[in-house]
Amino acid sequence: GAPVTVDISKVELGQKVTYPWRSLPVFVVNRTPAQLAALPKVDSRLVDPKSDGTSAAQQPKYAQNETRSIKPEWLVVIGICTHLGCVPDFFPEIKPEPFDPNWEGGFYCPCHKSRYDMAGRVFAGVPAPKNLQVPPYHFVNDTTIQIG
Ligand code: FES
Repeated sequence: GAPVTVDISKVELGQKVTYPWRSLPVFVVNRTPAQLAALPKVDSRLVDPKSDGTSAAQQPKYAQNETRSIKPEWLVVIGICTHLGCVPDFFPEIKPEPFDPNWEGGFYCPCHKSRYDMAGRVFAGVPAPKNLQVPPYHFVNDTTIQIG
């Protein structure tokens, strides 16, 4: 599939926009400072917080970091659950069922209740085995991303 160029200038702080790439939904999220600050807090509850174990192949090397991104605020992930391929919902604040009192925001798969944090890292104790996949991408300029 051909690379896709997307204009992110209208993606508001805290918002998620979905772009198609190779027939896959790619989520682009403009993460808030609070959402970024929450990432290290959930490390101990994740399957592979550093993405160097089960998820070592789930992102390009340049996105193998705490935020799983090139620029901390911009998350770019393929919105396909690593369990059986459903599209997770964006749950930035509301707590998904079953009620999670420590929810810091992220993604929730409605099919079998897998949860991911705001970097697409999977929580322990859910069916999904790996973090969401980060596609190859780069910044063409401050407001344009090329995916693929
Ligand atoms: Fe997402 Fe099963 S497909 S939890």
